Amino acid sequence: MERILITGALGQLGHEFIKYFNNKDIFVLATDIKDPPKNLPCLFEFADVLNKERIDLLVKKYKINTVYHLVAVLSANGEKNPYNSWKVNMESFQNIIEISVNNKIKKVFWPSSIAVFGTESNLDFVSQNPAMNPETIYGVSKLAGEKLANYYFNRFELDIRSLRYPGIISIDTLPGGGTTDYIIEMLNSAKNKSDYTCFLNKETRLPMMYIDDAIEAAIKLMSVDRKKLTISSSYNVTGFSITPFELANEIKSRGIDITVDYKPDFRQEIANSWPKDIDDSISNKDWGWSCNFSLKKTLDKVFN
Ligand SMILES: NC(=O)c1ccc[n+]([C@@H]2O[C@H](COP(=O)([O-])OP(=O)(O)OC[C@H]3O[C@@H](n4cnc5c(N)ncnc54)[C@H](O)[C@@H]3O)[C@@H](O)[C@H]2O)c1
Repeated sequence: MERILITGALGQLGHEFIKYFNNKDIFVLATDIKDPPKNLPCLFEFADVLNKERIDLLVKKYKINTVYHLVAVLSANGEKNPYNSWKVNMESFQNIIEISVNNKIKKVFWPSSIAVFGTESNLDFVSQNPAMNPETIYGVSKLAGEKLANYYFNRFELDIRSLRYPGIISIDTLPGGGTTDYIIEMLNSAKNKSDYTCFLNKETRLPMMYIDDAIEAAIKLMSVDRKKLTISSSYNVTGFSITPFELANEIKSRGIDITVDYKPDFRQEIANSWPKDIDDSISNKDWGWSCNFSLKKTLDKVFN
């Protein structure tokens, strides 16, 4: 039986993982440094993941055997304080890794990001392993995290599994300060019948994924026989790619009247160093990944 610890459990992805595991009656201990909502459907402990002793104690107390480590300072927020971003992203991951080795944790899920790529990665269609020179501290820390995962797998056989998520689209839970947040902001503006000022220019094409696919991909990757996995850093995955202008037109084509202005800010430069589209064929080959949610199906869900 899985007994799962989720760190950063009150963020955009954490809420959805909690929902998923709760529906399957799987034990979850949620941890975060925010106060939980009253209706959180699982156990919660306040825990700063930089406090290694506290996390170690919780792992032992709740007999945890699987960890979903979701704590991170995301791309746009990270640029405001690179020192803190590196500390939170890297120190927390190494804490989790060390605790996992020492407590014989069976599996760790840790999301990487499309931020690991850079302008030398053939951004029109990035392959699994191109030249990678990330331009944000977030991307630098994710790439270092991938190397760390690979190292601990080879040296200690710690079973860490990872996906390079594109922008994740969820409506119930809000994004935490990334460069793809515009898509959620524009969709929410459309739902609330208000106009929207986009922080990226209208032609910025970025890969996205609906939240159900993001959860499904993680669960699938976590359940496959490790022998099938040929990548021990992080797997490319994607849903569909879109620009803000195309999204605005899709929204309008559904009879929703929205005016979108474009006022690019510092996030434009980040987006310029990110992929437009992703080759996730190795994920398909190794563990049978294919996305369920096209743009149309995603918008059907959002506006149903
Ligand atoms: N959301 C996306 O579009 C996206 C895309 C690519 C990768 N990812 C990755 O997925 C993971 C989850 O992302 P998310 O969007 O849910 O992030 P989020 O910002 O919404 O949530 C992160 C959570 O971590 C908590 N946290 C921060 N510092 C902490 C600390 N020191 N100790 C304990 N908790 C702390 C925050 O309170 C927050 O609830 C991250 O690793 C992120 O890099 C997300």
